Amino acid sequence: MREGTAPLIRREDYLSPAYWIRQVDLTLDLDAAKTIVASKLTIERNGQQPAQPLRLHGEDLNLLRVLVDGQSVSFRHEDDMLVIDAPAADQFVLEIRNTIAPEKNTHLSGLYASGGGLYTQCEAEGFRRITYFLDRPDVMAVYTVTLRGDKKKYPVLLSNGNLVEQGELDGGRHFAKWHDPFPKPSYLFALVAADLVAREQWVRTRGGKDHLLQIFVKRGDLDKTEHAMNSLIASVVWDEARFNLPLDLERFMIVAVDDFNMGAMENKGLNLFNTKYVLASAATATDADFDGIESVVGHEYFHNWTGNRITCRDWFQLSLKEGLTVFRDQEFSMDMAGSASARAVCRIADVLRLRESQFPEDAGPMAHPVRPDAYQAIDNFYTSTVYEKGAEVVRMMHTLVGREGFAKGMSLYFQRHDGQAVTCDDFAQAIADANPDSALAVNLALFKRWYSQSGTPHLSARGQYDTAASTFTLELSQANPVTAAQPNKLPQLIPVAMGLVGRHSGQALALQLEGEAAPSGSHRVLVMTEATQRFVFTHVTEDCVPSLLRGFSAPVLLDDGLTDADRLVLLAHDSDPFTRWESGQKLALGRLLTALPTGTLELDEPFVHAMRGLLRDPSLDPAFKELALVPPSEGYVAEQTTEVDPQRVHAVRESMVQQLAARLNEDWAWAFAEHQVREGYRPVAEQSGKRALANLALAMLVRHAVATGDTVWPGRAYQRFKDASNMTDRLGALQALVNAHAELAAPALERFHALFRHEPLVLDKWFMLQARAPERDGRVFAQAKQLLKHPDFTLGNPNRARSLLMALAFFNPAAFHRADAGGYVFWAERVVELDAINPQLASRFARALDRWRHLAEPYRSAAREAVARVAARTDLSSDTAEIIHRALQE
Ligand code: TRP
Ligand code: ZN
Repeated sequence: MREGTAPLIRREDYLSPAYWIRQVDLTLDLDAAKTIVASKLTIERNGQQPAQPLRLHGEDLNLLRVLVDGQSVSFRHEDDMLVIDAPAADQFVLEIRNTIAPEKNTHLSGLYASGGGLYTQCEAEGFRRITYFLDRPDVMAVYTVTLRGDKKKYPVLLSNGNLVEQGELDGGRHFAKWHDPFPKPSYLFALVAADLVAREQWVRTRGGKDHLLQIFVKRGDLDKTEHAMNSLIASVVWDEARFNLPLDLERFMIVAVDDFNMGAMENKGLNLFNTKYVLASAATATDADFDGIESVVGHEYFHNWTGNRITCRDWFQLSLKEGLTVFRDQEFSMDMAGSASARAVCRIADVLRLRESQFPEDAGPMAHPVRPDAYQAIDNFYTSTVYEKGAEVVRMMHTLVGREGFAKGMSLYFQRHDGQAVTCDDFAQAIADANPDSALAVNLALFKRWYSQSGTPHLSARGQYDTAASTFTLELSQANPVTAAQPNKLPQLIPVAMGLVGRHSGQALALQLEGEAAPSGSHRVLVMTEATQRFVFTHVTEDCVPSLLRGFSAPVLLDDGLTDADRLVLLAHDSDPFTRWESGQKLALGRLLTALPTGTLELDEPFVHAMRGLLRDPSLDPAFKELALVPPSEGYVAEQTTEVDPQRVHAVRESMVQQLAARLNEDWAWAFAEHQVREGYRPVAEQSGKRALANLALAMLVRHAVATGDTVWPGRAYQRFKDASNMTDRLGALQALVNAHAELAAPALERFHALFRHEPLVLDKWFMLQARAPERDGRVFAQAKQLLKHPDFTLGNPNRARSLLMALAFFNPAAFHRADAGGYVFWAERVVELDAINPQLASRFARALDRWRHLAEPYRSAAREAVARVAARTDLSSDTAEIIHRALQE
């Protein structure tokens, strides 16, 4: 079904539903070709709304029968709605029978087939692809679900809640009946019918109750579920310890599925996961994969309270659950990481993600507030703005009220709203009301502009030390840029965590603001509430450098006005690891930007010296060093310019990396030797930091060797690739070769493929590595096109499609943005091809060119032409049409 011109849904048009559905009794006769769905709904008229027909959502359904209180009734179809004239009674039972064809469902929304099993994905609007329903999150019902199917094909039959009955049926079939006692919106419904095995573990919560945890996977994958189970247990313990939120179900299940549009889904008691976020062994998964599993398992588990017990009134409130739950999973990962420096590494990684994807989104045609005002396809608003910027908004509240105050706010939120479908306003109000004296409560309306205004605020800071008066004056000002659909902006509340670092002593100075009786501490949060504000620090005994936006205390673009000399002071002495890292990044960024106009870069000795100092500093964590020694990405550099020439950005950055490889050659050799892990593999921060730095060092050593014609390091890299005892080291060595040494890369890639041809998640890495290799003479792009025809490639599996298409278009600008427009032709063809199979995935890929206006010529015109060519089609899904048409809007 194509619906390119679907209407715009607006937040201001929200009305409560005309009917409530209180109970759902579903029976499914499961069959991949034709599943019969019998639905019995207990419905009540909503007295708040005028009498009107009952209008139910339905999509790609084959309707067999409709009964109201046992009698047949007249009904009609209007677009994708089933319309039934208002029944006379205020309460009635509606019975519907329809069929669906899971094996034909390539959208992976609704009920679909994957690897012989049947699985559901209902968020946001997939339930309507199973049966007719009021498919909106404010309609919450208690579900009883009976599943019937072939016992050989589907030995495991799962749905939400508790198993209340199971048994045999005729003809080799069996059934299972599930009951979920918690009222829930339809998007949290799930079922699984497949041939699976489970790892099981009992946990006892603090109240003394025992709960069964299960992780279901395909036969043969059980030995890869240990880390996911450990992460799940840790999540249960953490949510109880930090927020007093216990597991509320007798049984909590996770099911891994190969074909999945996103990371995972928090269906009540039955989380469905992309296999990527469940399966891991030392041999097949990298440290980053292990971390990803921990955070996604945590994320979905934490949704049980923030999302499921309290859900969203409408989809405009999506960040109510997603922003809050991302914040919670970030805090979980930090608490799990332990040491202060390991926490800082987590924070830096989160900020990198935000800047890489959310800042560009906020500066382009898809810019939208954390709480959007309008959409055509809600699937398009599962964005980094709603998720990552939403998490930053929650983090700012946490900063403003403190850790304890935030926990109090969460308690009040659950006291008020448990069991309800609510709004972002309700959340902010609860946090503020629990902390009435906080800057948040005092300025709540101002703070809430973070929910309503899109765009990344620009914060600029200028400091002045007055020796005679012993004062340091800091002037802060903010500018809120015009974005798509929002011409007028107001100042926002910006918490600026900061300190002052003595220019000569390197010491953290005591902070005393004008008007304060005494100094208090050397770190504080300045609360900005106006466009421009001045803060005067007194009794400042030494000239100093301001350390601003510590921990990235607000999602803004900071122009700190500092000099290189200032940054070197912060890099060497600041007590805040985030600002230290940021100072190094800014030193590198400044040099890259200066080099862009000419395309040539000559690294200066002070910079090289500072980088060497970082690498050799015995007090710093290896993981931190790795983050600090990698220059800002091409995407981030591009963001800082008005007209992007992706080839120029690539050349300049490559040159910086190459010079760092050459000038620190001995230091890299030292770092490689010093950071070997001799113990057995464990996915813990102490080990992963060493592996990360050793892998970076190896890549640098191979690069420099290739430039000088030396064969020792390439040979060592090949040896390490062959002998590695874990995937992190193996992939690191392979990447060092693929990035620099074509002759050794070819046999290594072949060997890697042969070793892992039966491991889909590892094959994804094989495709991705090649699609992300640094471009030279168009070889990487040519190879990517070639890989489309590889027998292991398919657009039908989202992970595989992403590993090639997204890797190329989003993460390899120099291979994708070509002067001959080949990348854009490739993009347009794949968007159309993918859209016919899976609109959700296609519309995500389509976004690779939504910022074509930001490109320099000749890229801009060529990209525009490609976008226009796709826009001219009349058969686009509403998902993809929305992205494409927005991209062309003025
Ligand atoms: N709610 C899921 C999460 O944890 C997101 C999600 C999973 C999703 N599958 C989806 C969103 C399909 C849209 C479509 O973040
Ligand atoms: Zn989520």
